[in-house]
Amino acid sequence: MAVELTFHGHASFTLRGGGATLLLDPFFTDNPLADVSADSVEADYILVSHGHGDHFGDTVAIARRTGATVISNFEIATYCENQGLKAHALHLGGGWEFPFGRVKLTIAHHGSTLPDGSPGGNPAGFLLEIEGKRVYFAGDDDALRAVGLLTPRLVIPMHYGTWPLVEQDPHAFAKRVEEMGVRCSVLPPGQKLTL
Ligand code: NI
Ligand code: MN
Repeated sequence: MAVELTFHGHASFTLRGGGATLLLDPFFTDNPLADVSADSVEADYILVSHGHGDHFGDTVAIARRTGATVISNFEIATYCENQGLKAHALHLGGGWEFPFGRVKLTIAHHGSTLPDGSPGGNPAGFLLEIEGKRVYFAGDDDALRAVGLLTPRLVIPMHYGTWPLVEQDPHAFAKRVEEMGVRCSVLPPGQKLTL
């Protein structure tokens, strides 16, 4: 079975596989690049890497509408549970076998305070194993260095072009990745890719 990935602009992705729809860092409202809206996007699980508004985004509204389970660190999971949402907490280094596959929380060097100032714990990346495919969502990072360390089969750039602050040329990045002998796909928002 294949895993189908869709980029929604900024750091938001949908992954379909293992019989579930996973939404990663669902930031649609106020995201000028989003190809979907918070009131129509589908989700069985919502994975949140850290508490910042451009990643936590529309998590509460989508989880409330869809009944999706939020997967995040303990602080963000508890914050969601306190709002009546379903959540599954993991700590950095911790992993869990979900019905769709495995999720492990990895370390990320960043902040994580939630939009209302609540403590958001430690920022994380996700190591996902679904249908025999391994997907690493690294979060905000030194991407080229990470590519050199990880030597993945395919790199998908994210977190660029949303605002002037994160204005970068993904094609220039892709060229440098390919010079390292690694495939790199720049996905326009809304474009699907089968892994
Ligand atoms: Ni952030
Ligand atoms: Mn960010």
